[in-house]
Amino acid sequence: MAFDFDQPIDRRHSDSLKWQKYGDRDILPLWIADTDFHAAPCITDALQQRIKHGVFGYGVISNQLKALVVERMASRYQWQIAAESVVFLPGVVCGLNLCVRAFTKPQQSTLAPTPVYPPFRTASAMAERTQLTAPLRLSQQRWLADWDAVAPQLTGAEKLLMLCNPMNPGGTVYRRDELQAQLQFAQRHDLLVCSDEIHCDLVLEPGVEHIPFASLSEDAAQRSITLMSPSKSFNIAGLGASVAIIPNPQLRARFQQMAKGIVPDANVLALVACDAAWRNGQPWLDEQLVYLRANRDRLSTHINALPGLHMVTPEATFLGWIDARELNLASPAKFFEQHGLGLTAGTDFGDPGFVRINFGCRRALLEQALQRFTRAINALS
Ligand SMILES: Cc1ncc(COP(=O)(O)O)c(C=O)c1O
Repeated sequence: MAFDFDQPIDRRHSDSLKWQKYGDRDILPLWIADTDFHAAPCITDALQQRIKHGVFGYGVISNQLKALVVERMASRYQWQIAAESVVFLPGVVCGLNLCVRAFTKPQQSTLAPTPVYPPFRTASAMAERTQLTAPLRLSQQRWLADWDAVAPQLTGAEKLLMLCNPMNPGGTVYRRDELQAQLQFAQRHDLLVCSDEIHCDLVLEPGVEHIPFASLSEDAAQRSITLMSPSKSFNIAGLGASVAIIPNPQLRARFQQMAKGIVPDANVLALVACDAAWRNGQPWLDEQLVYLRANRDRLSTHINALPGLHMVTPEATFLGWIDARELNLASPAKFFEQHGLGLTAGTDFGDPGFVRINFGCRRALLEQALQRFTRAINALS
């Protein structure tokens, strides 16, 4: 491998949110979704060049960067977009919140799967919109949102369907027919669709491809806002560079109006990093995927061999959704924390019987974590 993902890097004494949470306590931080890897050299080189320039005044989104997004959508997904449909943002969560505020009125509701990445829930709650939820169901070892289950509760006040593809948690990559079914649901109920596709570059399952919801058809594109970013796949979340792709000009204008004066422009270093990642980062990303796939397989084999724990092998992301319901613990996250594992509580996603693990770490650290899982489960018997 040309890139070394096993290299130990001291993040405990850095400004890392993930590593500062537990300070010097002997708890492995496997929670918030950034990886422990150095960013690709093409990104750090580009940043160093930009820093050498030494002037950090207000920036502009270059035509080259917009063209890069257009080209990326065309070459990876055969999705033709116009450069003006690309809106740069400092974060995808910001995009989720803008969508709720721009596209629903106070009496209207959003729809989202549950469990789901917590900002899907809080974006509605903070805007004081109600949210109806579609439960995830396991189908042939894949988590899928059951939209039929929510259909009887619909009142006509629903306006925005919030998709997470690839899914966090659960790691499902929706297939074309599954996306088509969700598009038909949106058409039937006259919904706009906000599709969070931040994990789209992190498909681990061989033979599976990410398909942007908006690429399904012109109708899908016209009713949707697609959120993407290099932040997860290239480990540059702390820089904050994301895009909203909004082909419909009226929706785009409403979205931008909502952002005006509140949401800052993406910062100049973030734009440099984004450009470098998407222009030159593929060889690094390809190697990272190989490393993450091996971590994923190691994790799911180990977890599924332990009594009381189950885990679907995620098709994408570096996040494992571990089912601890059989252990009958009041708080699985607290229990595992007592055994030195800093996981995210399933409660935050809407299901207290689960924990989420971030396996975007060195293999040696993952091995340590697996030993701790074994010890924790043995302590129960
Ligand atoms: C589905 C999903 N959306 C958004 C984010 C965060 O996006 P950002 O840091 O760009 O706000 C995450 C981070 O874990 C995520 O998993």
